[in-house]
Amino acid sequence: MARLLITGGAGFIGSHTCLVLLEAGHNLLVLDDFSNSSPIAIDKVSELAGLDASSASERLQLHRGDIRNQDHLERLFTSAKEQGRPIEGVIHFAGLKAVGESVREPLRYWDVNVCGSWSLLKTMDAHGCRTLVFSSSATLYGLPDLVPIPESAPVQPINPYGHSKAAVERLLADVFASAPDAWRIANLRYFNPVGAHPSGRIGEDPLGIPNNLFPFVSQVAIGRRPRLQVFGSDWPTPDGTGVRDYIHVMDLAEGHRAALDYLFAEDSQKITVNLGSGIGASVLDVVKAFQAASCRSIPYELVARRAGDAAITVADPSLAAQRLGWRTRRSLADICLDGWAWQSANPNGYRKKEA
Ligand code: NAD
Ligand code: UD1
Repeated sequence: MARLLITGGAGFIGSHTCLVLLEAGHNLLVLDDFSNSSPIAIDKVSELAGLDASSASERLQLHRGDIRNQDHLERLFTSAKEQGRPIEGVIHFAGLKAVGESVREPLRYWDVNVCGSWSLLKTMDAHGCRTLVFSSSATLYGLPDLVPIPESAPVQPINPYGHSKAAVERLLADVFASAPDAWRIANLRYFNPVGAHPSGRIGEDPLGIPNNLFPFVSQVAIGRRPRLQVFGSDWPTPDGTGVRDYIHVMDLAEGHRAALDYLFAEDSQKITVNLGSGIGASVLDVVKAFQAASCRSIPYELVARRAGDAAITVADPSLAAQRLGWRTRRSLADICLDGWAWQSANPNGYRKKEA
């Protein structure tokens, strides 16, 4: 089993993936600056994985730090080598992800997402660690011409967040081309990750008012927000509301394990795959499914479209099935049940009081 560095491992997708990787037997070093997460998430992961105090120090080490700090990265890689257990691969989640914020603060997004990835790659290369799974995004496809969207669709992001992800994919392509016999790289383009671990002990914990549909709906169900605003009811979709490909975060976590297994089985490889279900759900489908799962009513009002939204984004997930042997297994009903288990047990997320 491998020793892996997980950047951003305390975050929403990172924490669920850490659990799946621990269960698969890997040993993890998590590097996170907690700018959008809490160390409590890692404590919960450790409990869920059944680690005791002695195994935890071996199997799941937590380091507070910024991916842009090359001295810190250098120390992590060097000390792992000195312990005789070098870092063999990296899953790179750390980054900023809010579209609206990226429009207001492009310099910060390019700094963290692009310069952060550059600094990580530089250190990996220097230490001969050349296996990387990168958190890319369906945001790269912008307003797609063809749905379901294949990986061959044009990369045409429409905001700085999307540009930063496209820039990292570009950087990774150049790095791979410079030494194709050495690197193993997977770009995973996630669609809409939602839900939580079925235990309800780890989940998504957005700071402030959520921008995304699913956490907003859960907070309306628990009574933290009075009602949902549905952005547009005149889209060319069956019920007039926007359609997305929602993917259970545990399916997504398993997709990372599949990508890693695939890379470790190959001599050298670069793949780019969509991680989505291939199934579209409208905003009103999500509201109905969440009402059924929570037995709570979710008041909503229909308002104008949100700038920059597409009518429908749904993945063509066939490449991931073919190359990684991975496909989603959980339904929208499962997503809502597990999301509600998390929200109802942790009304304020990992914090005791509302943020
Ligand atoms: P998240 O914010 O919950 O997790 C990101 C983690 O990175 C957080 O724990 C944060 O504290 C950490 N981090 C941020 N900047 C850092 C830095 N400079 N140094 C070290 N750690 C830092 O987000 P998430 O939803 O888990 O997303 C993980 C990755 O997946 C991100 O790269 C995101 O862009 C990408 N992604 C997310 C979605 C989504 O809808 N959640 C969709 C597509 C792609
Ligand atoms: C958004 C980002 C995308 C990013 C993804 C994950 C935009 C334009 N896109 O995707 O780049 O990769 O988050 O972080 O921001 N909706 C409502 N009311 C709400 C919130 C959302 O009706 O309060 C609707 C939206 O109009 C959309 C659907 O719900 O039709 C899903 O929205 P959201 O969860 O924000 O995801 P995306 O827009 O797909």
